[in-house]
Amino acid sequence: MYNLLKGKKGIIFGALDENSIAWKTAERVHEEGGEFVLTNAPVALRMGQINALAEKTGSQVIPADATSLEDLENLVEKSMEILGGKIDFVLHSIGMSINVRKGNHYTSQNYDWTQKGTDISAMSFHKVMQTLYKKEAMNQWGSIVALTYMAAQRVFPDYNDMADNKAYLESIARSFGYFFGKEKTVRVNTISQSPTPTTAGSGVKGFDGFLAYADKMAPLGNASALDCANYTVAMFSDLTRMVTLQNLFHDGGFSNTGVSDDVMEAFVKGLE
Ligand SMILES: NC(=O)c1ccc[n+]([C@@H]2O[C@H](COP(=O)([O-])OP(=O)(O)OC[C@H]3O[C@@H](n4cnc5c(N)ncnc54)[C@H](O)[C@@H]3O)[C@@H](O)[C@H]2O)c1
Repeated sequence: MYNLLKGKKGIIFGALDENSIAWKTAERVHEEGGEFVLTNAPVALRMGQINALAEKTGSQVIPADATSLEDLENLVEKSMEILGGKIDFVLHSIGMSINVRKGNHYTSQNYDWTQKGTDISAMSFHKVMQTLYKKEAMNQWGSIVALTYMAAQRVFPDYNDMADNKAYLESIARSFGYFFGKEKTVRVNTISQSPTPTTAGSGVKGFDGFLAYADKMAPLGNASALDCANYTVAMFSDLTRMVTLQNLFHDGGFSNTGVSDDVMEAFVKGLE
């Protein structure tokens, strides 16, 4: 370990169980010397195993529904109290589509569910940043990261309304990142991660095929949750201080590959 985050304090959203990308990130941040508060929606706290993670990393847990400004204000205030000062890093690792969960096709949405999913998966990022911004809660050169997926740029039919939510999320990162950079010297980026076997990931229809296809396409194969945690640590560290307003592909090269020999071989075999 490199002590990359020694002395830094943060908030990590979205660790549900040990498969969660946020869970792996919390473990890696801890190993790198960072201190943090863990948070998740009250219902997820009841279902998940976050207390084990809190114990392992010496962290406290503060419940917050990321769609509730009241919860977020309480979270930010309490976090500064617990950590004894302003925040250096924040991970937004939150996503949920009710249309996906209930099996509604993209062309047959229930718009109440669409709105709820957008609020949870994208607008919550604006709410988190607005709360941090108004409360002057971020230290200079702090780093805010949200996790996203390439369906924001290209069509993945079964990703459903989450594709639209991710496009909105990435736009919020740029738009809020401008003001956070200019006014507070804080950077904001999204990391566009490979398909990863987690609770949220596995909810996407045909996920196993999706995972295998991406793995065969990417020259380096799929990036794991641990790889994503490592990249996030780098983005929280002082080694990436001038990176902001970016959507950073972390996918083993998938996003720039037209076709791979492995995929072509499997396709041709299917034709025989
Ligand atoms: N798994 C993948 O294939 C993949 C790929 C690219 C990006 N991502 C993104 O990574 C992030 C983390 O997902 P994951 O794959 O680790 O799955 P996960 O299911 O472990 O994490 C999703 C988290 O969102 C939380 N959440 C849901 N509603 C919430 C609310 N109202 N308030 C606060 N938290 C809420 C859940 O409790 C859960 O902890 C998501 O943004 C997801 O879209 C995942």
